[in-house]
Amino acid sequence: MGAILKRTHMCGQLTAADVGGRVRLNGWVQKRRNLGGLIFCDLRDKTGIVQIVFNEDVPKELFELADRLRGEFVIGVEGLVKERQAKNKELATGDVEVFVDAMTIYSEAKAPPIYVKDDDNVDENLRLKYRYLDLRKLKMQRNLSFRHRIAKVTRDYFSEQGFTEVETPILVKPTPEGARDYLVPSRVKPGAFYALPQSPQMFKQLLMAGGTDRYIQIAKCFRDEDLRADRQPEFTQIDLEMSFVDVDDVIEVQEGFLKRVFSEVMGVEIETPFPRYSYREAMERFGSDKPDTRFGFELVSLNEAVRDCGFQVFTGALESGGDVRGIKIDGGAAKFSRKEIDKLQEMAKAYGAKGLAWVKLDEAGTSSSFGKFVSEGVMAALAEALSAKTGDLLLIVADKRKVTLDALGFLRREIAGRLGLLDAGRWDLLWVVDFPLLEYDEEEGRYTAMHHPFTSPAVEDLPLLETEPGKVKAKAYDIVLNGVELGGGSIRIHDSELQARMFKTLGLTPEETESKFGFLLEAFKYGVPPHGGLAYGLDRLVMLLLGEQSIREVIAFPKNQMAVCPVCGAPGDATDEQMGELKLKKL
Ligand code: AMO
Ligand code: AMP
Repeated sequence: MGAILKRTHMCGQLTAADVGGRVRLNGWVQKRRNLGGLIFCDLRDKTGIVQIVFNEDVPKELFELADRLRGEFVIGVEGLVKERQAKNKELATGDVEVFVDAMTIYSEAKAPPIYVKDDDNVDENLRLKYRYLDLRKLKMQRNLSFRHRIAKVTRDYFSEQGFTEVETPILVKPTPEGARDYLVPSRVKPGAFYALPQSPQMFKQLLMAGGTDRYIQIAKCFRDEDLRADRQPEFTQIDLEMSFVDVDDVIEVQEGFLKRVFSEVMGVEIETPFPRYSYREAMERFGSDKPDTRFGFELVSLNEAVRDCGFQVFTGALESGGDVRGIKIDGGAAKFSRKEIDKLQEMAKAYGAKGLAWVKLDEAGTSSSFGKFVSEGVMAALAEALSAKTGDLLLIVADKRKVTLDALGFLRREIAGRLGLLDAGRWDLLWVVDFPLLEYDEEEGRYTAMHHPFTSPAVEDLPLLETEPGKVKAKAYDIVLNGVELGGGSIRIHDSELQARMFKTLGLTPEETESKFGFLLEAFKYGVPPHGGLAYGLDRLVMLLLGEQSIREVIAFPKNQMAVCPVCGAPGDATDEQMGELKLKKL
C-alpha cells in the first residue's frame, strides 16, 4: 500500500456536508470491530474521532490489513464519505463514515499501558509516565490548544499596547521571590553556582533602566517549593513591566488584557473596572487576601455582642487582645449534623483555632455548643450581629485576630464548596490593593518584604518606615479570580536612597545588599524611570478558565509530587566525568 501522508481533512472535521466527497485522513486507531464481512474502526487525531469502514468490496489484501489493526496503530486512509445509517449523537462526526479503499500502516503499537480515553480513571502517576499516550486524549489536546490561544491573545494584546517581548537569562544569580532556588554548578568557576530564576524580576527592572519602556515575556520560572494542585517547581509567568506608570496605569492595561482574553478565548464579556478591595477589607470580610466573592458567608465581628457574655472562651479571647468572629451559613442548620460540624472544627484547628462554637437557629428553637454558658440575650445579640434568621447555622471562632480570620476564611470556602455554591459559570475578578509593605517574621525576629524588597511604599507612609514599619502600606496589587491568586505586582522603588532605607528596614547589611542586589542598585544610579509591573501565573490562568482542578492538566510535561519528571526521570545521576569537571564530590 502506498504512502498516504498528505491529508485533506482532520478526523474531527467531517460533517454531512462532506458526504459524497473523497477524503484522505491520518490518525490513530481508537478501536476496531470485525463483524465478519465488515470492519469498523474509529480513527482519532487531535480534533476528534471519525468512523471508517472496510467492506468486502475492497481488495482482499486491504481487508486483511484492516483486520490486523489494533488500538494505537498509526494509519493513513483514503475513501469516500457516506451518510451513516445508524447516526451516533455522541460523536461530532456521528452523521458520517468513511468507506476506505486505500490504507497505509505507518506504525504498529504494543498494547498501551493506559487507555487513550478522556474519562479513563487511571492513576495520575501512570498518566504522567506515559504522558505521550495521555496527551493523545482529546481533552488534553483541547487543553494544550486552549493554552496556546491564551498565549497568542497575550502576545497580540500586549504587542498592540506597545510592549516588546524580550527573553531574559535562565542562568542567573538568586532572585528575590523568597522560595528555595534551583542551583546549577559552574564548570568554569568551580564551587560557584548559577540559580535558575524564580522570576525575571531584576532583569525586567534592568530592561526599564535600559529604556525598553514596556516589556513582556512568557517566562519560565523555577521555585523549589512544596508542591500543591496549583504549584509546580517549573511554571510559566506572563511577566510584564512598564515605565512611567503608577498603580492605576498598570491596572488599566491589565483589565484591558483580561477583558480581551475572556472575550476572545471564552466568548464571555466581563465588566471593567474590576472591584478593588484593600488588603484589610479582604481580610476582615472574607478572611483571605484572595477572596472568592461568588458567595456570601462574610465574616462579622462579634466582639460587641459577646463583650460581657460570661462565656470564658469568648471573653478570654477579648481580654488577651484577640477577637471573636463568626459566619452565618444561610439555611445551614439542617444541612450540617453535629458530626459534620465536628469535622469542620478539626479543619479549623489546622488553622490554629482552639475550637469552633456553633449555633443552630432551628424551627424548634435555638441549639448551640455553648448555650449553657450564656443568656438568651447574648444568643439574640449574636444572631442579630450576623443578621441570622430561622434555619441558619452560625460558626464562631474566638482567638488571635489572624487565627479567627484564617480559620473562618477557610471554612467559608470549604462550606460553599460542599453546598455547591462555587458557580463554575461565574468569573469574579478583583484586585486586592494596599498590602502591608512588610510582615514581621516571628522566627527571624525581623521584618520581611511581603512582596519583594523592590516594592515601593505608599508615599504618604514613608515617614513611618523607620518608626512603625508594620503600618507602611505598599504600592502592590494582586489580581484574584474566583478565590485564586492569578497574579501580583507592584510599583517599584526607583530611588536608590529609598531602596537603601528599605534594605536597612529589612535588616540587610550593606555587604549583603551589595552581594545580592548590587548590580541593580548600581544600574539605578545612572537614571532610571519610575516603573512597575506584574506577573500572572499562566498555568493558573489556563487551569481556571478550563475549570481544571490541577495545573498539571494544562502543562504538557509536569513534575509529579516529588518534583520528578515522570517521563524522563529527572533528576538523575551525573557521570563521574561530569562530577570531576564540576569539581563536585558524590555523597
Ligand atoms: P509572584 O511570586 O506573586 O510575583 O508570582 C506571580 C504569579 O505566578 C504564579 N506562581 C506560580 N504558579 C505555579 N507554580 C508556582 N510554584 C507559582 N509561584 C507563583 C502565581 C503568582 O500570582 N516578580 C513578581 C511579579 C512582579 O512583581 O511583577 C512575582 O514573581 O499565579
Ligand atoms: P467547651 O467548654 O470546651 O465544651 O467548649 C464549648 C464550645 O466552645 C465547643 O463548641 C468548643 O468547640 C467551642 N470552643 C472552644 N474554644 C473555642 C474558641 N477558641 N473559639 C470558638 N469556639 C471555641
